[in-house]
Amino acid sequence: MRSSVVLSCLLILATISPRHSTTEGLFGGISKLAAGNKRNSADGATADKIGESSLLAGIPMSTLSNGEKMPLVGLGVGNMIPDVIPAVISHGMKADRNIRLIDTSNVSGNEKLVAQGIVDGTKQLLEKRKITTSDRVEMHVVTKVWYTHLGYNRTMIAAKSSLDSLKEAIDHPNINLKVHLMLHWPRCYEDISWMNCEEEEESLPEGIKRAGPAPHTDPQNAWKESWKALEVLFKDESNPVVSIGVSNFHLNDLTELEQLATIQPHVIESNAWSLLYDPMLIEHCHKEGIHMVAYNIMDSIIQNADPASFAYNHLLLIANDLSKVMKSRGQLLGEKDDLTPAQIVLAWLVQHSISVTPRTTDLYHLRENSATAISKIPIMNDRQVQTVAHSVEALISPKS
Ligand SMILES: NC(=O)c1ccc[n+]([C@@H]2O[C@H](COP(=O)([O-])OP(=O)(O)OC[C@H]3O[C@@H](n4cnc5c(N)ncnc54)[C@H](OP(=O)(O)O)[C@@H]3O)[C@@H](O)[C@H]2O)c1
Repeated sequence: MRSSVVLSCLLILATISPRHSTTEGLFGGISKLAAGNKRNSADGATADKIGESSLLAGIPMSTLSNGEKMPLVGLGVGNMIPDVIPAVISHGMKADRNIRLIDTSNVSGNEKLVAQGIVDGTKQLLEKRKITTSDRVEMHVVTKVWYTHLGYNRTMIAAKSSLDSLKEAIDHPNINLKVHLMLHWPRCYEDISWMNCEEEEESLPEGIKRAGPAPHTDPQNAWKESWKALEVLFKDESNPVVSIGVSNFHLNDLTELEQLATIQPHVIESNAWSLLYDPMLIEHCHKEGIHMVAYNIMDSIIQNADPASFAYNHLLLIANDLSKVMKSRGQLLGEKDDLTPAQIVLAWLVQHSISVTPRTTDLYHLRENSATAISKIPIMNDRQVQTVAHSVEALISPKS
């Protein structure tokens, strides 16, 4: 039973089109990044097909349903050791990595460090490329409202604290910061072992408790009020929120949200596991033009190489084949630069217009996972797409 669900899901993923197919000189001109700070209204949405990828200065991007863009390759800093965050981000932004999307959340408590990393990275880019002080580097941050802050007033407080923490980057004259704001979870689930609904409520500051009812006492409805708050924040032109969305929502909550929303969700962030095992969710998002972001790719797939070495070897074979193609084009220099299975899985998702946000504090992995590296990987043929899909199914299984 499970196998048939997985296969149909993988087939949907395999047939989602279009894949991004054009490349442009990487970092072909930083001026292109300074593509204006005006939000496209729904009316003024670009003619791009929803979900179609395009390139912004060589950085693979997806166009959201409101015409805004989101980079397809990002860096997750949620749960990252705080001390290293600014350095990892500024390294990631370097011209040979080109990471322009940072994924975090309000509950991670590191948004100030994210802003600091973006400011440091921008300074380095400007110095290195001798760019004039009027140029602006476009950066995207995904941040999320935790489930203790569901309800209109609580969500407003959390979102404003996120924007306040990001202020150093928002106000910087050389940064065009675009914020993608999401609800982290639809509710606190009593049956998820690490969620402690009552204890988390108890430990909140008094000001938050007074701002609105405890969301875990109304788990079916609290997020609905939160969505209204996100809509208000999105409509407010004075802040940099360019898209609103949800994370860890299943299809039933998502469709309920769509019925009551005056602004439809632009983005959904999900565990890679859900993306692979929930064909209805994928199909729905594809149909409704909701852009998908996947997390838990390394933890749930690549780090399972040992118990599923056969599948891992299939990924290695594809990595070798595509490395040869890149070598013949002069895009890879030596053996040490050969593609890795991790890059094949990231490229497989990115080539289907799904954003990825792997977390790493390892500078080698940062380069390996970077927009520069992933965008150079040739478009996979149908056979390779199917092989990656089957390998991912085998690799993801041991932790399921
Ligand atoms: N929406 C949500 O509810 C939610 C939940 C969890 C996470 N997230 C977001 O997703 C981000 C990613 O976190 P995750 O939990 O999904 O973890 P992940 O990215 O799947 O895995 C991170 C682990 O993979 C390793 N790694 C990274 N690149 C690698 C590579 N190329 N080859 C081999 N290993 C590699 C890292 O080690 P090294 O440091 O040694 O590279 C780290 O141990 C978080 O930072 C957060 O922003 C969102």
